[in-house]
Amino acid sequence: MVATVLHEIPLQGGDVTDGVVRIGDTVRRPTCRSSPAVHALLRHLEAVGFEGAPRLVGVDAAGREIITFVPGTAGLTADSVTDQALERLAGLLRGFHDATAGFPLAGHRWEGGSNDDAAPEVIGHCDLTPDNAIFRGDRPVALIDFDLARPTTRLFDVVTTLRHWAPIADPVDRHPLLRDVDAGARVRLFCDAYGLPSRERRRLIPLARLRFGRSYEMMRARAAEGGGWARMWADGAGERIRRAAAWLDTHEDEVHAHLV
Ligand SMILES: Nc1ncnc2c1ncn2[C@@H]1O[C@H](COP(=O)(O)OP(=O)(O)O)[C@@H](O)[C@H]1O
Ligand SMILES: [Mg+2]
Repeated sequence: MVATVLHEIPLQGGDVTDGVVRIGDTVRRPTCRSSPAVHALLRHLEAVGFEGAPRLVGVDAAGREIITFVPGTAGLTADSVTDQALERLAGLLRGFHDATAGFPLAGHRWEGGSNDDAAPEVIGHCDLTPDNAIFRGDRPVALIDFDLARPTTRLFDVVTTLRHWAPIADPVDRHPLLRDVDAGARVRLFCDAYGLPSRERRRLIPLARLRFGRSYEMMRARAAEGGGWARMWADGAGERIRRAAAWLDTHEDEVHAHLV
């Protein structure tokens, strides 16, 4: 009998986790200290029928988590940067937050704290970068990479997502496909599609500022531990945060006008 050999195909695109591989219809990822919490969350999402996340299959003999491979494309493409794609992404994030209702906000060990001073409302993904969303054409079908998920506010996750997708970034740091977009208009589009109430919109710019300050300090501290974070820091992650904060200061009135 000839056994089928399933090859390990390294998956690129992530910044942080070394050793993410595809084997057949599954992805294997090293576990981290938040994995028990993330696994409980993935099981909850499956139980409530949320389709926009991989399913947890288990843990393999090497101690890696096994999740389902979601066919599609991660990263920015001409299709995923359209306004319609952004509206759908807002809908997917809204659906994810709503699906976490009923998942306990206390009692699990997550990676990091809320980072918003308002009381946590949902489990946020907290890292919805282009590499952490799988698209088919202009349709985002799944969020992946829940390593930074944790209890937080809806607005904090919205701000984090807009940091990457509006994007709230200096044009010199933007992906070419997003360099010339009207970021303020895209912030508005996302908030509308998410259904963000006006009192939350008024808090968006101050929270983005708070987040920049805290992300900077958090990244600097983690970079000192080495590994992927140190690589990101050496690659200028801190300077990009500073430039993004300066861009927001310069364009505050413009962005604000879209939010009122
Ligand atoms: N379940 C999955 N389905 C499809 N692609 C995946 C899946 N998990 C990871 N990938 C691919 O592998 C890349 C890196 O995996 P990710 O889980 O985001 O790890 P990292 O912590 O390195 O960012 C992703 O950007 C994506 O392209
Ligand atoms: Mg990732």
